[in-house]
Amino acid sequence: MTTLTSPWIVMKFGGTSVAQPKTWGLIAELARKRIEDKRKVLIVHSALSGVSNLLEALPEQALKGHGEASVKAIKLRHLDFARDAKLEGQALLAEHFSRLDQLAAGIALIGEASARVRAELMALGELMASALGLACLKAHGLKPYGLDSRSVMKAAFEGEDARAYLDNAVEDGPDSYLQTRLDDYQLVLAQGFIASNAHDETVLLGRGGSDTSASYYAAKLEAQSVEIWTDVPGLFSADPRLTSGARLLSALSYEEAQEIATMGGKVLHPRSIGPARRAGIPMVVRDTFRPELPGTTITEKPGDDAPALKAVSVKTGVRLVVMEGSSMWRQAGFLAEIFACFKHCGVSVDLVSTSETNVTVSLDPDPGLDEARLQRLKTALEAYCRVQIVENTAAVSLVGYGVRRILHKLAPALEVFQDKPIRLVSQAANDLNFTVVVDEDEGRALAVRLHDGLIGDADGPVFGPSWAEITAPVKAKPQRPDPWWRAKREQLLQNAPREGGLYVYDRETVHARARAIAGLKSVDRAWFAMKANPHPELLKTVETTGVGFECVSLGEVNRVREVLPDLPMDRILFTPNFAARSEYEAALALGTHLTLDSLHPLHHWPELFNDKNVIVRLNPDRPRGHHQHVKTAGPKAKFGIPLDQLDDLKAAVASSGVNVIGFHCHAGSGVTEPDHWKELGAILAKAAEHFPDIRILNVGGGLGIPESADAPILDLELVDQNLADLRKAVPDYQIWMEPGRYLVAEAGVLLTPVTQIKMSFSTRFIGTGTGMNSLIRPALYGARHEIYNLSKLDEAPSGLASIVGPICESADLLGADRLLPETEEGDILIITETGAYGRVMSSHYNLREPAGELVI
Ligand code: LLP
Repeated sequence: MTTLTSPWIVMKFGGTSVAQPKTWGLIAELARKRIEDKRKVLIVHSALSGVSNLLEALPEQALKGHGEASVKAIKLRHLDFARDAKLEGQALLAEHFSRLDQLAAGIALIGEASARVRAELMALGELMASALGLACLKAHGLKPYGLDSRSVMKAAFEGEDARAYLDNAVEDGPDSYLQTRLDDYQLVLAQGFIASNAHDETVLLGRGGSDTSASYYAAKLEAQSVEIWTDVPGLFSADPRLTSGARLLSALSYEEAQEIATMGGKVLHPRSIGPARRAGIPMVVRDTFRPELPGTTITEKPGDDAPALKAVSVKTGVRLVVMEGSSMWRQAGFLAEIFACFKHCGVSVDLVSTSETNVTVSLDPDPGLDEARLQRLKTALEAYCRVQIVENTAAVSLVGYGVRRILHKLAPALEVFQDKPIRLVSQAANDLNFTVVVDEDEGRALAVRLHDGLIGDADGPVFGPSWAEITAPVKAKPQRPDPWWRAKREQLLQNAPREGGLYVYDRETVHARARAIAGLKSVDRAWFAMKANPHPELLKTVETTGVGFECVSLGEVNRVREVLPDLPMDRILFTPNFAARSEYEAALALGTHLTLDSLHPLHHWPELFNDKNVIVRLNPDRPRGHHQHVKTAGPKAKFGIPLDQLDDLKAAVASSGVNVIGFHCHAGSGVTEPDHWKELGAILAKAAEHFPDIRILNVGGGLGIPESADAPILDLELVDQNLADLRKAVPDYQIWMEPGRYLVAEAGVLLTPVTQIKMSFSTRFIGTGTGMNSLIRPALYGARHEIYNLSKLDEAPSGLASIVGPICESADLLGADRLLPETEEGDILIITETGAYGRVMSSHYNLREPAGELVI
C-alpha cells in the first residue's frame, strides 16, 4: 500500500504530448503546479510521435540500402523540434546521432539486425526525446534531473531471444535505493519503455511500455498517484471513433479498467495497471490538450457500487477455433488433451465456450501467429475432433459489475442475429464481462447499438460528458463591443460636473438591452425589475419594447403610473416583501399582478384574496449571486415560501379561496451560469404538480453582467436555449422573467472630477468629488467597477492608485489599486457599469448631495 506521506507523483506523457515544444510548456506548468503544492514529480515520457515507427522500420530500410535516408529523416524530425524550441539540436543530440549512424551502418554491413541491436535502436527514440525534453524544462525555468531509466529498470528475465530484448518486464515493488537516490530532486525526467539486463544491455518493455514504466516508477517510489497524460481525456464507455455518444468514465476500479483496456480500449495499456494496482496507487488518465477535464481515476473501488454497465468494446481480427465431435461427450481429460495442443503450438486462447459436442475458443489478433503454426495446431487437434477455423470475427464485450443482471436488456439489440450466427457467447466468472463473438462486419454495428441503447444516456456519478460534447466546437464567445461611452467621450466631457458627480445613462443601450430581453424566444413575458433604475426616461424607453415593470413597493408602482399614465395595469407586477396589509389592498384595488412571498397574508387577511389571482414566491434551497447580500434563496433568505411548506400553502389556498396561478422565484442577483433559470423553472414546475391552477413559472431576474473588463459575459442566447429545454419539458406553462441589472447596468456611468491626490505610506490616493454617497456598491458588496481617467483616456498608465470619495468612512473606496495614467486635479474619472443599483441606492450621508442624473 502506498504511504500517504509520499511526496512523489509520477506523470507520464505519450508521443503526441511530447512532440511539440509548446506542449513542453504545458508539461512544465503542470509539473510546476505540483511542485508548488509540495509534491515531487517524476516525468516519464515516450519518443516523439512517429519516431518509434521510423526506428522500427530502419533495419529493413538499411538492409534495402535506404538506411541513410531513414536516418536523415529521424535526425531531421528532432532537429526541427530543436529549432522550433530554440535549442542547439546538434549539440544536444550529437552522441545519440552518432550511435544512430553506427547502428544503421552496422546493420547494412552485417546484413541483419539482431533483437539486441533493434532494442538499442528503438531506445534511441526515447533517449533523444529525453535530451530535448530536459532542455525544454530548463528553458521554462525548472531544474529537472535527467534519469537514465536503464539504471533503474532491471529486466525481469534474461535470454538471447527476441522477447528478452523487445518485450521484457521489470520486477515491481518499492525501491528504497531509488527513493534515496532521488531524495534531493524535486523534478526528475526519465524515459519510458526502456530497461537494461544483467549485462547492461538495453532491453524494451514492449508496446505500451511507457505506461508500464510509469506504473513501475510509481510502485518503486511508493508514489501518491500516477498520472497518464495522453491525447484523449480518459477511458470511454466505447471507442469514440465507433460512436460519438461514447461517455467519459470518471472513475473505475483497477479490475474494470483492466477489463476495458484488455477488451480493446486503446487508451491505457492493460499491462500498466498491474504494478500500480499491486501497490494500491491511484492511476489518473488525463488529456494533455484538455487539462481542464478531470479524466478517469482508477482505484481499488469502482466509482459507483451499483451494478451497471460501464463500457462496450469491440475487438476485430479475432479467430475462432471450432472443435466438434461426439467423442468429447463425458470423456474425462478431453479438454486437457485439446488445450495441450494449444500449448504445444504456442497459441494462446482468449474466450472459451463448451457444450456436449462443441468446444469453441477465440484467439486474439496476433501478428506473430502465422498460417504454418495455425495449420500445425489444426492437425494436432484433428486427432481428437473435427476442427474448423473461422477468420474475421469480432468480439463485442459488455463490461461492468453485475453484468449478468442486465442481460435481459440486450434482446432488442440482438434481434438482428435471428438470421445470422452468434458464434460464441462467454460470460466471465467475475461477472464483469459478457462477450459475444459475431462476424466482423456485424461487430461494430452491434457494439454501437448496444452502447447507445444501454449506456448512451446513462445517469450516475461515473458517466461524464460524451465525446460529441467534449469535442463540440467551442461556440465563439460573445464579443464585448466597444462601450458606448468611448464614442461619446466628448459629449461626456462637456457635461462632466466640476464638483460632486453625475450619472449619465445612454438611452440607446437601455433600448437595445430591453429589446434583447423582449426578444427571448422562450420567455412569454419579460418584466423590468425597476428597482435597478427607476429613472423616468429609462422607464419610457423600456416601455416601448413591450417589457412590463416589476415593482417592489407602492412607491415604484406609483412612479410607473406617473411616468406612463396610459400603461395598462396588466403590465405591472407587484412583488413586495414583508409589506403592510395596506399595500396589498392598494395593489388589488389597482388590478396589478401580485406576488405573495409568505403565508402570512393568506392566514391573516384571507378575505382580501378570495377569488383573486396571485402568484406565489417560493424559496428553494438554491442561493445564487455575486455576493452574500444579494442571495435571495436558501435557509438564510427572508424571501419566499420554503418548499417544505407547500402543504400549508395548499391548505391556505383552500381556506382563503385564492387562485394561485403562478410560482415565482428569484434566487439572487448577478448570476452568470446560463442554465440557472432553466433549473429554477424545473424546480417551480415540480412544485406546481400539486397546484392545478398554475400556468405561470416566473424564474426571476439576476442576469449578471461582467464586473471587470476581462470577466466572462453571460451569453443570453444560451440562457434562451436552456429555457427552450425547460419549455420542451413542461410545455403547458408560460415562462416569465424579470431582470433589472441586465437592462441598465452597462448603460450608465458615473462621472466625477479629481479633487486631490495624496501619497500615504505606499498608497497613492486619488480623491474624487463623490464617493459612497453616490455609489455604495463597492463598500457594500466589494463590487468592482472599472475606473478610467476620461480626460486622458488612452494615455499609458503611470502606476497604481486607490480612488476614494469625500465621505467620512474608510469604506469610501471606489476602487483599490487601479492602473491609471498620470492624473491631476480636475481630470474627469469615469466609473463604468453603474447604471444599475447606483443612483437609486445613493444617500445624503454627510449631507453631501449624491450625483445627479442625465440621459443622453
Ligand atoms: N426580481 C426580484 C424579485 C428581485 O428581488 C430582484 C432584485 C430582481 C428581480 C432583479 O435582479 P437583477 O436582474 O437586477 O439582478 N443591490 C444589489 C442587487 C439587489 C437585487 C435585489 N433584487 C446590487 O447592487 O448588486
